[in-house]
Amino acid sequence: MTSDSAAPAADATTSGTDAERLVARNHIEELRDQIRYHNYRYHVLDDPEVPDASYDALFRELSALEDRFPQFAAADSPTQQVGAAPETTFNVVEHRQPLLSLGNAFNADELRDWHRRIAQLAERDHFRMVTEPKIDGLAMALVYEDGRLVQAATRGDGRAGEDVTLNVLAIPTVPERLQGAPPRRFEVRGEVFMPKAGFEQLNARIELENEEREAAGRPPLRLFANPRNAAAGAVRQKDPRITAGRPLDIAIYQLGWVDGGGAPASHSEALAWLGSLGFPTSPDAARHDDLESVLRACEGWTQRREDSAFDMDGVVVKVDEFALQRDLGLVAREPRWAIAWKFPPQETTTRLRKIRVNVGRTGSLNPFAELEPVRVGGVTVQHATLHNEDDIHRKDIREGDTVIVRRAGEVIPQVVGPVVSRRPKRSRRWHTPKRCPVCETPVVRLEGEAMAYCPNPTCPAVVYRSIEHFVGRGAMDIDGLGERLVGELLSKGLIADAADIYMLNDRRDDLRALDRMGEKRLDKLLAAIEVSKQRPLANLLSGLGIRHAGGEVAALLAAHFGSLAALQKAGEEEIAEIDGLGPVIAQSVARWIATPAAADLIAKLTAAGVRVQEEGPARQDGPLTGRRFVVTGRLESMSRPEAEDALRELGAAVSGSVSRKTTALIAGEAPGSKLAKAQELEVPVWSEQQLLDALADPASAGAD
Ligand code: IVH
Repeated sequence: MTSDSAAPAADATTSGTDAERLVARNHIEELRDQIRYHNYRYHVLDDPEVPDASYDALFRELSALEDRFPQFAAADSPTQQVGAAPETTFNVVEHRQPLLSLGNAFNADELRDWHRRIAQLAERDHFRMVTEPKIDGLAMALVYEDGRLVQAATRGDGRAGEDVTLNVLAIPTVPERLQGAPPRRFEVRGEVFMPKAGFEQLNARIELENEEREAAGRPPLRLFANPRNAAAGAVRQKDPRITAGRPLDIAIYQLGWVDGGGAPASHSEALAWLGSLGFPTSPDAARHDDLESVLRACEGWTQRREDSAFDMDGVVVKVDEFALQRDLGLVAREPRWAIAWKFPPQETTTRLRKIRVNVGRTGSLNPFAELEPVRVGGVTVQHATLHNEDDIHRKDIREGDTVIVRRAGEVIPQVVGPVVSRRPKRSRRWHTPKRCPVCETPVVRLEGEAMAYCPNPTCPAVVYRSIEHFVGRGAMDIDGLGERLVGELLSKGLIADAADIYMLNDRRDDLRALDRMGEKRLDKLLAAIEVSKQRPLANLLSGLGIRHAGGEVAALLAAHFGSLAALQKAGEEEIAEIDGLGPVIAQSVARWIATPAAADLIAKLTAAGVRVQEEGPARQDGPLTGRRFVVTGRLESMSRPEAEDALRELGAAVSGSVSRKTTALIAGEAPGSKLAKAQELEVPVWSEQQLLDALADPASAGAD
């Protein structure tokens, strides 16, 4: 401890008690080491181990501690530097002006604080700003001389980077020669990135190649973790031809230094001017007169980030006027005149407490992670899916691990992988339990299948999930019968299977005794159950939850057989003959329908008055009587069932598969294989508009 240890606790330069200072100093050192390590992984190896958000959190913690304990400030602290020193495999280039980093604003208040600070320093409330997408790629400084690109250098540690000129010339959108009248010598800065689509294609290509390599007994190539890594890897290739084969792009976002020639007076003018010289600048850059407008733009981007063609990690907000930028200057590694509005992180790290197993409706044992609660993608997450045991082993995820959790567009968070350097000692690989965690029946795992199953059809978890599925959307769709009520009905013994739902009318007294079941709610529930009896056969079939027989398959089965009775009589072969169904589905359906449990269930449903066949014969005297239609794809003006009902009402027959007898196939958006079939059989294909015309004037429809 230094000699100031006896100073009063509140002293600005020596704050904290002795003990606090000691703890702070150790922690500061620890944080610096961690950040240096992550800098090295990110900047030198292009292989970050933790997500940006976790890095940012470490960085902020360190900055806050250094602010509080200025006596421990150090010139070699990562807070005083940018990135890590470059590797020496490329020539080192000293930047004439350092490439800076940006401070972050994680919410509107922090952005307001930034604006307030500038207003104070500038002694005026109004100044224009520019917002631009913060592309997640790698920074590049390009020097042009007499209109030609002479040097491209990476950021490196901000002061010196690597000369990657030849590789950057291989990026199609980087101009080698400029148009117009550029200054004699000047520098521009921008972000090299790989668009998401190109990244997906690149990984798909690697996967294909890996299949060949596997066949030839060669080790597989590693897939890229994200577009940023892929872009960084492509730029640092020794052979520019490899770079040329990678889908890279660049967006120029800043004018650097300029020799010999006037430069514009503001950033927005500079962007327009750079565009006129032939540089690709962001088409999404926008100028704003006030902070509220900036905030709206930032919020808008936050909502739309998934729609962007490239990975964005935020929005950069810049003061527009160059004169004001110069007055504001910089602190340590960051300019005061710009800030990054950061999106809520889509990835973060947390501890995986335990791997648990859920039993699904097919009896599948679905492992999931129980996590220490953590905020990611704007919500607090405690559970994440782990798919299956193979996937857990492939990623080497273990209980007690610090794991990377990702929640992007999708609702269910994923565990990306472990942070192996933080793995506790004595951790062990996880295995699927040998017995069902609910009913303790020994589990089975079929040859070649990734999932393990509880084979007991009366396992309470299987029954519960099956009924939940039966009453859900796309199946019997019973309003007011959610998972909670299903659970209650089961636990009170009011139902034991899906068919029992149709007997509930006789159990009014028992139902009334349920939690929060008033007379009104009860009436509504029973009415919804009654309505559901008339759902199309395809819904009922899908609701039965036969493995491999979801909505599409159920629709094909319903269209082909027309009734459950006919399906019961059919064998596996007949099912397999249906266009669009394969042997796996046929076997699964045939096996299920032949079980005594299925026979019982179907008999009970039939007795309860549930519709177990397609609708009766079509109207005999309608304007479309005698015509047959198939509706496919997504319609704009109505749903597919609505379109089908409308056609039936006019006497048309509606079928699920195209045959020579089909009058017309009505094809909406994304029509799929039925369109090809119709074309093959030369069946007329109608647009949605033609359908609307036919419904409006059925007499003239399909006459040609
Ligand atoms: S301006 C002094 N504008 O973000 C201003 N940077 O933390 C420095 N980035 O590595 C940069 N898009 O490569 C700026 N429109 C944009 C940007 C952008 C991405 C990157 C930049 C740097 C990091 C700053």
